Amino acid sequence: MDETLIQTINKLQDALAPLGSGSTSPVDLPQITVVGSQSSGKSSVLENIVGREFLPRGTGIVTRRPLILQLINKRNNAAKSAASDLIDIQTTDSQGNKTENNADEWGEFLHLPGKKFYNFDDIRQEIVRETEAKTGKNAGISSVPINLRIYSPHVLTLTLVDLPGLTKVPVGDQPKDIEKQIREMIMKFISKPNAIILAVNAANQDLANSDGLKLAREVDPEGLRTIGVLTKVDLMDQGTDVIDILAGRVIPLRSGYVPVINRGQKDIENHKTIREALNDERRFFENHPSYSSKAHYCGTPYLAKKLNAILLNHIRTTLPEIKARIETALKKYQQELAALGPEMAETPSSIVLSVITDFCNDYTGILDGQTKDISSNEL
Ligand code: GDP
Ligand code: NA
Ligand code: MG
Repeated sequence: MDETLIQTINKLQDALAPLGSGSTSPVDLPQITVVGSQSSGKSSVLENIVGREFLPRGTGIVTRRPLILQLINKRNNAAKSAASDLIDIQTTDSQGNKTENNADEWGEFLHLPGKKFYNFDDIRQEIVRETEAKTGKNAGISSVPINLRIYSPHVLTLTLVDLPGLTKVPVGDQPKDIEKQIREMIMKFISKPNAIILAVNAANQDLANSDGLKLAREVDPEGLRTIGVLTKVDLMDQGTDVIDILAGRVIPLRSGYVPVINRGQKDIENHKTIREALNDERRFFENHPSYSSKAHYCGTPYLAKKLNAILLNHIRTTLPEIKARIETALKKYQQELAALGPEMAETPSSIVLSVITDFCNDYTGILDGQTKDISSNEL
């Protein structure tokens, strides 16, 4: 049932794309945002969720402009089930036959319209180049976002936002009020009601000092759209673990925390693949005395599942509104059609508007079905 729902949303978004996106699109999906200290692992977490390597990562301030990353589900001709979606990172990666230069996946930047990037290394280089173009090479920052779209049959149509981390002491070309500037930049994105906040904190840092959690609480005090992510669990001192945090005994979060292990700096230099990293992550949790009994609730795949669940919930709660908007549009077009006179109304296929009418009829039907499913489904 969940699959149908995601399939429907993908179809809706495809069909409505020509009518405009953003505030004019009837399907307003959540944006996944990251918030946390510099080098806590935000870019690494996003990259693992997408399952493709293209974000600049590293020690120091690497992400210096917001990156608005729109994933666009583009179906293959071969009928592919919509079960893929966000969780697809596991199956895609375990197949092991995906190359980064796959012709069915590409990226396109808003500042370079029409130029398709099939190589994900080139995408990363372009992000770095475009970051430096606005901010120089000396750690400067800018709130002007870089917009990147990734077209792929292996992603759920969804927007992720990578943001600079919170930092306190200005370095290089950074302004004196760097802390305030980055804070404002982050607030702009996470205060949107449809922003899902990944509050990223390195497990080897004190959670009580987590800048990410502090900001997340300001905009989402009830924790309705915040997920805690604990990175660098592999770097914790021997004999320590995050069990107390997971159990909600430190700073409880409604949607809880997910411990993950991303690639370290050395792994990046050694070109460890995401697939290898996910395998190592799974083995780590399965074999660790503190986590082995709850390995199911640890790691990137579980984080992806949690995100999917939150997304589906959001879609379910917005479906009635989407349906109402489509019906309004339908009524309006039908009136316009009638106003064109009886002949025209009788041969609607000759009119461009009929395309939209057909579409609206189709989707009203689907959404009716979906709404029924939902009401009979305890959430
Ligand atoms: P950001 O500044 O928050 O976006 O953090 P990055 O994703 O750029 O990561 C900062 C550094 O920490 C990089 O060198 C990563 O390789 C490293 N790193 C991130 N997550 C982990 C992790 O879970 N384990 C280890 N060992 N290193 C990590
Ligand atoms: Na960093
Ligand atoms: Mg980053």
